[in-house]
Amino acid sequence: MILRVIEHPILGTLTDLKKVTLYFNDKPIAAVEGEPIAVALLNAGIKVFRTTAKRHEPRSVFCAIGRCTDCMMIVDGVPNTRTCVTPVHDGMHVERQEGLGVVRKEADK
Ligand code: FES
Repeated sequence: MILRVIEHPILGTLTDLKKVTLYFNDKPIAAVEGEPIAVALLNAGIKVFRTTAKRHEPRSVFCAIGRCTDCMMIVDGVPNTRTCVTPVHDGMHVERQEGLGVVRKEADK
């Protein structure tokens, strides 16, 4: 089942359903430009977005409005990005975040 969020309380309303590609751990994922990253990942069957720092427990979407931090991932090299309120753009790179995440220098990417 495909779920698309057309009207989002923070990101607004999608008017143009332009198909784009984002990369999850370097694997291409079909998405719609402007939809929350979390929606694109869930549609692709990806359910673990990060793991906790101490117990390494899996986390995914919980609040879906940018309040809880459970959906944080590394997006285009930036850790702790809330994917439920961050819109997709073509060619973005998203990585599962282990613990607190690491800031990547340009040379490390
Ligand atoms: S799911 Fe709570 S901040 Fe994204």
